[in-house]
Amino acid sequence: MKRTHYCGQVSDKDTGKNVVLMGWVHRRRDHGGLIFIDLRDREGLVQIVINPEEKTAYEMAKEVRNEYVLEVSGTVVKRPEGTENAQLKTGKVEIQISRLEVLNTSKTPPFSIEKENETLSESVRLQYRYLDLRRSEMQENLKVRHRITQLTREFLNGQGFLDIETPFLTKSTPEGARDYLVPSRLNPGSFFALPQSPQLFKQILMVSGLDRYYQIVRCFRDEDLRSDRQPEFTQIDIEMSFIEREDIMNLTEILIAKLFKEIKGIHLELPFKRLAYFDAMERFGSDKPDLRFGLELKDVSSIVKRSDFKVFKEAVEKNGIVKGLNAKGLAGMSRKEVDDLTEEAKSYGAKGMAWMKVTEKGMESPIAKFFPEGLQKSIQKELEGEAGDLLIFIADAPPVVYKTLGNLRLSIAQRLQLIKPDIYNFHWMIDFPLLEFDPEEKRYVAIHHPFTSPMDEDLPLLEKDPLKVRAKAYDIVLNGTEIGGGSIRIHRKELQRKVFSLLGISDEEGMKKFGFLLEALEFGAPPHGGIAVGLDRLTMIMTGMNSIRDVIAFPKTQKASCLMTDAPTPVDPKQLRELGIKLNLP
Ligand code: AMO
Ligand code: AMP
Repeated sequence: MKRTHYCGQVSDKDTGKNVVLMGWVHRRRDHGGLIFIDLRDREGLVQIVINPEEKTAYEMAKEVRNEYVLEVSGTVVKRPEGTENAQLKTGKVEIQISRLEVLNTSKTPPFSIEKENETLSESVRLQYRYLDLRRSEMQENLKVRHRITQLTREFLNGQGFLDIETPFLTKSTPEGARDYLVPSRLNPGSFFALPQSPQLFKQILMVSGLDRYYQIVRCFRDEDLRSDRQPEFTQIDIEMSFIEREDIMNLTEILIAKLFKEIKGIHLELPFKRLAYFDAMERFGSDKPDLRFGLELKDVSSIVKRSDFKVFKEAVEKNGIVKGLNAKGLAGMSRKEVDDLTEEAKSYGAKGMAWMKVTEKGMESPIAKFFPEGLQKSIQKELEGEAGDLLIFIADAPPVVYKTLGNLRLSIAQRLQLIKPDIYNFHWMIDFPLLEFDPEEKRYVAIHHPFTSPMDEDLPLLEKDPLKVRAKAYDIVLNGTEIGGGSIRIHRKELQRKVFSLLGISDEEGMKKFGFLLEALEFGAPPHGGIAVGLDRLTMIMTGMNSIRDVIAFPKTQKASCLMTDAPTPVDPKQLRELGIKLNLP
């Protein structure tokens, strides 16, 4: 190849060598005599110097603008003393150019290709994604993502896993989101669904005896988007036969530890902590708590029910709870700030937020009068309140209290700057309930998916008290983000049918939707289970980004559209006719 080096990889060891480089003009400085160009490629920058004595090259260099594509030949020389650039990997050298060729020109880009460009609007970045991806920050993110998939493949291949592809044009798989549908021209009126995950196929592969499967696979879910959700995203998807919950958890931990060691040089202590679902809800109000800080919730129901404060008393009498949180040192918050926090609490569904400031002279609060001194003391003790602390309380049905305080816990931690960078706090969430009651649909729904196995010891409760049944499911949580989840599956048809019937899926509907799985279970299905790790979320945290859009080359916006290609777009009426589709838009 003509090119001898990447720009960013020339070093002082190459001094005296003739090199040929290709790259983009990052910056050009004309010093009257000499022209300096920072030439950039995916490995970094190097300074090239064009002397007026090299007439042809010099004349061409005068015309060069940012983002022009150049081919240059020259000699690597040490920079004159005092002109070295310690910020730059190649900062000890420069290239004295003998030849320069413009391979292509460029329009003036709408933004500069700097590493960090804080002021850049995301919509402009997404529209000109090819320019955004020239920024070194984005290139580093994609390299980390590549390292993660490369190491994951190496590791799983080494453990005897087979990489097997599963279809994208398939039938709906229930992971709780809406499907993306694809019309079938050859079967008018019928639709494929893009898979929300390969769940059913990987189970079928176990029935086939493939024993250990993995796939780094795209999944599609039509759901409301957030910074950690995209309509198409990637899972590291794993399934194994003849194993227990612990086996999958161990395998996943070893994989994650390897990624952190090799990519970030960070040693993770194994095994990761485990937290039971109910403990997590009681202590942190969340099934994916951020454990980088404390700020635990405290139950004060039994104390406050003895007070004269109606809001609290009535909540407890109606089977609700009252929980408190000690916002350490925040008693100085202004009235307006407390009101804002109250509004935030309401946005999570709470009816209000009560508060008490702990002072040297006792509690200061609009509701203090309802609490005799003894009760005030008990509350203060329970919440470990000291002078200067702000205690906040929510009274409601448990799910509302958990959700509200779980979220307030996060915003208070931010306000108190309790979240230190570069801490990676992993834990497993286990002992999830199998089902929850959906008040809107008035039926039980699976917390994970309908193929998750109940705990053996809870089987007798399936009929008597379904909400008490725990699942053989596990989620892996990193710094408050769920990065993966999986379970041991049901491998016997009778149990699968029973769970379907609890979920209100009739035999007929079950057969129609997942008949192939139910049937497969009748032909010697082995015990099996697996997990899926969200590659985008893991990469986001490992690169220190705040959004998975920054670790996906071509992501979608909040409105699930692509600003670069303009997808989705209306289609040709002829295409619709062929598919037998008539639009009926409001
Ligand atoms: P689950 O639905 O929990 O499990 O998905 C597994 C992991 O995938 C990631 N994830 C997402 N990432 C980005 N955008 C999304 N919209 C999105 N949705 C999910 C999360 C999540 O933890 N079939 C099961 C796995 C199994 O049981 O083996 C499944 O898909 O990090
Ligand atoms: P009220 O009696 O409704 O004026 O409320 C008195 C105080 O209690 C106000 O500060 C409210 O924000 C607060 N409050 C109201 N409902 C709740 C609730 N469900 N949980 C906690 N505090 C509440």
